[in-house]
Amino acid sequence: MNTLPTAVITGAGGTICSVMALELARKGHPVALLGRTLSKLEKVASQIRNEGGTALCIAIDVTDITAVRQAGEQVFQELGPCRILINGAGGKLPGGVMSQTEYSPEELKEDSQALGFLNCDLEVFRSEVDLNLSGTAIPSQVFGRQMAQAGGGNIVNFASMTSFRPLSKVPAYAAAKAAIVNYTQWLAAYLAPARIRVNAIAPGFIVNERSRKLLFNEDQSPSPRGTQVLNHTPMKRFGEADELIGTLNWLTDDACSGFVTGITVPVDGGFLSCPGT
Ligand SMILES: NC(=O)c1ccc[n+]([C@@H]2O[C@H](COP(=O)([O-])OP(=O)(O)OC[C@H]3O[C@@H](n4cnc5c(N)ncnc54)[C@H](OP(=O)(O)O)[C@@H]3O)[C@@H](O)[C@H]2O)c1
Repeated sequence: MNTLPTAVITGAGGTICSVMALELARKGHPVALLGRTLSKLEKVASQIRNEGGTALCIAIDVTDITAVRQAGEQVFQELGPCRILINGAGGKLPGGVMSQTEYSPEELKEDSQALGFLNCDLEVFRSEVDLNLSGTAIPSQVFGRQMAQAGGGNIVNFASMTSFRPLSKVPAYAAAKAAIVNYTQWLAAYLAPARIRVNAIAPGFIVNERSRKLLFNEDQSPSPRGTQVLNHTPMKRFGEADELIGTLNWLTDDACSGFVTGITVPVDGGFLSCPGT
């Protein structure tokens, strides 16, 4: 019989949250893995089950309120109330990354190859904000209710380096991740009487499936963009997903961080401290 409470991880098939799901399962938490692609979730689940853990996979879109509510009921029925929620689903959408770092008259032309703010697809902009902000708020309400009823819990959100100062080319992602810092503070204050702590992690540059193509050349040397990031990272390397585990463990352990709520912890190789030029 499981003694530790249930953890729900959204984006659990991804680079960072697959590692977090494995960690929570290894500690003995039954885990519910939520994400869009079932095959990615099943891969993580089978590793967890091979190691003797308990994993439930639910393929959903975190911006679909009805689907997340149904997932909430399924988790409650099969694993009991959620006491830890990791809001990992998020990221940039295809079409959400512009080619321009500043305005160019090119973006006013019909059929322009340049993608800037003045000709970007505003539906993509809207969806990116929705994914990164509503996609955090919706699971927080559904699973926050379970935590409140069960007597407390922990929510961990995902911010970014771009939460603090906008990175170029990703206006919607940057704005949504900035909002996550503010929302984390707001929700922490709101849910404190329910004994629910709400914090966020702001990872530096952790290579994932999508960013690999952006940060590396085909021969695996850093691309111009990768070099730019490394030059701005005092530790002169990209991070690994498992380097976020210590912060996850600290934030989700009431014995270690029981008086900590509403903060965003950068894990970034010094990126935010880089003096620049
Ligand atoms: N990697 C970094 O350097 C970095 C830096 C700062 C912040 N972050 C943030 O950290 C979190 C995890 O990042 P990661 O690098 O692990 O990204 P990742 O490898 O791309 O994983 C993200 C996961 O989110 C899922 N997802 C995307 N949209 C979804 C939706 N609408 N509904 C449900 N699931 C959805 C994806 O599932 P599918 O593949 O099935 O779509 C994917 O498994 C994200 O919020 C990201 O913005 C990452």
